[in-house]
Amino acid sequence: MDFQDKTAIVTGGARGIGRGIALALARRGANVIIADLDEKSAKSVVNEIKSGGSQSYFSETDVTQQWSTDQMVEATLEEYGNLDVLVNNAGVGGALGFNDRKIPNNEDWQQTFDVNVFGIVNCSQSVEKHMVDQGYGKIVNISSIAGRAGRPGFATYAASKAAAINVSQAWAFKLAPYGINVNTVCPGLIWTPLWDSIAKWRKSTEEQSTELSPREIFQRTVAESVPLGREQTPEDVGNAVAFLASDRAKSITGQAINVDGGIRMN
Ligand SMILES: NC(=O)c1ccc[n+]([C@@H]2O[C@H](COP(=O)([O-])OP(=O)(O)OC[C@H]3O[C@@H](n4cnc5c(N)ncnc54)[C@H](O)[C@@H]3O)[C@@H](O)[C@H]2O)c1
Repeated sequence: MDFQDKTAIVTGGARGIGRGIALALARRGANVIIADLDEKSAKSVVNEIKSGGSQSYFSETDVTQQWSTDQMVEATLEEYGNLDVLVNNAGVGGALGFNDRKIPNNEDWQQTFDVNVFGIVNCSQSVEKHMVDQGYGKIVNISSIAGRAGRPGFATYAASKAAAINVSQAWAFKLAPYGINVNTVCPGLIWTPLWDSIAKWRKSTEEQSTELSPREIFQRTVAESVPLGREQTPEDVGNAVAFLASDRAKSITGQAINVDGGIRMN
């Protein structure tokens, strides 16, 4: 078991990809803290992990607030005494109601960067001292294939995800002397509440005449763009994160790995 006696924090672990990451780490023996705003869904993942035989704990956390991510780390250390892995997964597509706006407004820009970029910075700053003192740590940031290239529309999200890749590289350099690895996973197309919002945004903006449902828009996108011909799953992303957070990846840092069925080959 790669994570026996190890403790991991997964932000945004209450549902979707974060849940898949949390379960992947727990299956490999980690104690997993689910750090999220959504208490009800988070507690259901905590119970799922406990019923699989690992330990888990809910930390009510807003990754956009440094005081909140500091509390998240303090609570983790109080609960388990150690902290080895941080997965910065929490992410948004915009501010509330973004999928009804053809052009993102300033609130969309602000909220997207607050969660998708500053969320990574806040959490990393909160774990930094502990990981540096123990001379060991793994940070895995969740970006997106959207961060690999700009595109018209939805620039807020793509730009924030590009920034996430760059921030990861800066932190990989910064923490390398202390035995801490920092890597990024760029998921492709995974059907979650976030993708449901993106498909609804497309229906109300780029594809107003379509009769396809949000799920059908997603399936068409998969069929048009994925060389392997299938959608990716939260478990696929969880497996990649579990590898990068393990000692089997001890010589890998500052990398961004696509888990996207071959959509982007770089
Ligand atoms: N679904 C995809 O196809 C896809 C593709 C590429 C990248 N991603 C990225 O993967 C990550 C997870 O995406 P998902 O599809 O599972 O999204 P999701 O919307 O299903 O889940 C996101 C989770 O983050 C939490 N969250 C949001 N804001 C938060 C905050 N301020 N503090 C703490 N928690 C917060 C939410 O409560 C939710 O539990 C995101 O970073 C997303 O950008 C998703």
